[in-house]
Amino acid sequence: MRDSIFSSPHIIVALDFPDQQQALQFARQLDPQRCRLKVGKELFTRAGTQVVEQLIDSGFDLFLDLKFHDIPNTVAGACAAAADLGVWMINVHALGGRRMMEAARNVIEQSGHQPLLTAVTILTSMSENEIHEIGLTGTPRDNVTRLAALARESGMDGVVCSPREVADLRREHGEEFCLVTPGVRPSWSVKGDQSRTMTPVEARQAGADYLVIGRPITAVANPLEALSAIEKET
Ligand code: C5P
Repeated sequence: MRDSIFSSPHIIVALDFPDQQQALQFARQLDPQRCRLKVGKELFTRAGTQVVEQLIDSGFDLFLDLKFHDIPNTVAGACAAAADLGVWMINVHALGGRRMMEAARNVIEQSGHQPLLTAVTILTSMSENEIHEIGLTGTPRDNVTRLAALARESGMDGVVCSPREVADLRREHGEEFCLVTPGVRPSWSVKGDQSRTMTPVEARQAGADYLVIGRPITAVANPLEALSAIEKET
C-alpha cells in the first residue's frame, strides 16, 4: 500500500446519527487508535458542540464536516470557532472563492489549535446538468480540477473528493495535498445510495489519504468486525 505523509488511522467513520445519545453510544464501541470520526450537519444541528467536545474528550480525532460557505468574514469566524473546539479537520466550499478560503487559512494560522483545513470542490451528488443549471460550464471533472487548484493556491491543506477523482488530483498536486474521500464501499458491503464507489484498497492505491466510511461500519451488526475487515483491506 502507498505510504501517506498523513498519519494513520486512515479511516474516518461518519457518525450520521440523529441524536447525541446514539452517536456517543456507538463511538464507545470504537477505538481512537483505529479510526477517526466525522460529525456532519445533521448531528451537529441536533446536538451542537457538546457531542463534538465529548467525542474529542474520548480521545478521537474529529472531522467537523460543516462545509462552510459564506462571506469571508463569517467563514473565518466559523473556522476560528471550530478550531477552538479542538477538532482535527474542518472544511469549506471551494465555490466560496479565493478570498473566503484565504480568510479561513489566515484565521487558522492565528489559532492556538490548527485543524487541517480542506475544501469541497463540486458535490459528488451533482450531475452535469445541475452544474450547468447553476451557471458553471464544462464537465464535473473540469470543475473539480479547477476548484482543487484554486483551493491549493488559496492555502487549503487538501480537498474532499470522489474516489474517482483521487488519482488525477494526486498526480496534479503531489503527496502533500490531503485527499479525503467518501463514496468508499468494501466489496462485501451494500452500496446504499452511493454510486461510482471504490473499495478501500482501490481508493488508497489511487492516492487517498483518508477514507470517510459510514454505513458499512455504522449500520452493521458488528461494527468492530467491519472495521477490522476494512483495515485489513487498507
Ligand atoms: O454511509 P456512507 O459511507 O455513505 O457515508 C458517507 C459520508 O460521507 C456521509 O456522512 C456523507 O454525507 C458524506 N459525503 C458523501 N459524499 C460526498 C460528501 C460527503 O457521502 N460527496
